[in-house]
Amino acid sequence: MKKFCSLGLLMLLAIFVGCSQSNNDDPWKTVEKQYLRSTLKTKATKEGRVPRTIRDNKLALTHKGFDWTLGFYSGTLWNLYKKTGDEAWKKKAIAYTMPIKKHQFVKHSHDLGFVFMCSFGHMYEENPSEETKTVLVNAARSLASRFSEKTGCIQSWGPRPGRGWKYPVIIDNMMNLELLFEASKMSGDKSLYNLAVRHADTTLKNHFRPDGSSYHVVDYNPETGDVHVKETAQGFANNSAWARGQAWAIYGYTVSYRYTKQKKYLEQAIKTFNFVKNHKNLPKDLIPYWDFDCTDIPNTPRDASAAAIIASALYELNEYDQSFDYRGYADRMVASLSSENYLAKEGENQNFALMHSVGSIPHKVEIDVPLNYADYYFTEALLRKENAVSK
Ligand code: GLY
Repeated sequence: MKKFCSLGLLMLLAIFVGCSQSNNDDPWKTVEKQYLRSTLKTKATKEGRVPRTIRDNKLALTHKGFDWTLGFYSGTLWNLYKKTGDEAWKKKAIAYTMPIKKHQFVKHSHDLGFVFMCSFGHMYEENPSEETKTVLVNAARSLASRFSEKTGCIQSWGPRPGRGWKYPVIIDNMMNLELLFEASKMSGDKSLYNLAVRHADTTLKNHFRPDGSSYHVVDYNPETGDVHVKETAQGFANNSAWARGQAWAIYGYTVSYRYTKQKKYLEQAIKTFNFVKNHKNLPKDLIPYWDFDCTDIPNTPRDASAAAIIASALYELNEYDQSFDYRGYADRMVASLSSENYLAKEGENQNFALMHSVGSIPHKVEIDVPLNYADYYFTEALLRKENAVSK
């Protein structure tokens, strides 16, 4: 009897665990319903602010003016259009893309790649036009204006005297190179391509540790081009491996390989992925804690955004390297993200799709919340999963 009871209990537990971990058969249904509600609630305005996260239990929009997350909301709408072919999503995607145009000449930020590729980049893919091309090329030139010959890379942020940084470059910046590569193709301006390659090479040389993990911030001496310090802004410690930083490195070097076919970029993407995959602190469901070296693990938040970025990158990596089943691994990550542990219940989570991401714990902002970029890379991963080339 005791044996039966334990077996019965075990079966019940298995059903419960199975339920709580079972994939939502079609996560798109949830995404669609969430974004339908979201777009009805937050109309596209000329001001252009879009849902970014939840703050104090309320929906928080992007900051006024330029915000690095501005493009992700329209990007998710473009992904919904790509999935469904429904013109209504396209109309919405365009409505949220257009207000971003006014930022094409921004020169105080390196985030133009994120902002413009997720909005106008998709628009160009769906409806190539001279007007959209001009916006993308202008944005790329604005980004290029932040490059210095001395350092051989694009400056991410302005000087931060509080940290003693004069020319900080963050690993995230690898993600902005796609705009330079694309704009170079569109315009025939080879200098944009060359500059992206210089940035990727300099980052390759200075941002990585022997174990394949990436520092978050490398600060350069703008006069000599020498590395000043290697530190962090959003990670647990200067020497730690901030999870989203690893995700940006994997994705960023996969994209650099896409455009250049330089093997060293592919090797770096794989090396950083191996660091993540083999890390003792990577949980079984493959959704990393916000920093691999946080001393509070397991009592510290996960970062679903990092998992979504890595999963999406792995579908592409799978096309370039056959030594590992990247696709199978990405499928497991997507299954976890699609489970009720991470995918919101319809009508909850302020209508974002994914729960449990982290903006910046050191800055005490956006901790264990939805983030518009987690949804963007999640939906991109879902699209790539469907289109992935079988091994
Ligand atoms: N690029 C900023 C971040 O990943 O939080």
